[in-house]
Amino acid sequence: MPTPAQLRKLKTAAKTAAGRAYAPYSKFRVGAAVLTGSGKIFAGCNVENASYGLCNCAERTAIFSAVAAGERKLKCVVVYTPTKNATAPCGACRQVIFEFGPTVRIISICDGRDQIDGSIRSLLPAAFGPADLI
Ligand code: THU
Repeated sequence: MPTPAQLRKLKTAAKTAAGRAYAPYSKFRVGAAVLTGSGKIFAGCNVENASYGLCNCAERTAIFSAVAAGERKLKCVVVYTPTKNATAPCGACRQVIFEFGPTVRIISICDGRDQIDGSIRSLLPAAFGPADLI
């Protein structure tokens, strides 16, 4: 669980990251921020490509950035979209979140009052993960 101060920082980081989205094709800007086991925050935005299949979601940009910095445990993921309704992470991102945070809390915020707040297990029931390979 993030502290109220951490949650504020996560929300600000996700909003700032959305401003850096590279989304010339969809025009759908997404920002994400993750809180790691050691208390650090990493942010990311979606990065699209003229070869559409190569587009990377904001959540995965943030998570890969955390992993590249040596942080492999996620506690919380905050997603921000400048929309009226909150955006839940896509299926691929849910799978990637589960890999590094089987108990992670996911919070999606937007410019409206709508909010999503739940566990990765609720968003990805009967998940396949690292434990299945042992
Ligand atoms: N996108 C994200 O970054 N995160 C999500 O959870 C949903 C979708 C991005 C991918 C693509 O750049 C754009 O939003 C439209 O799908």
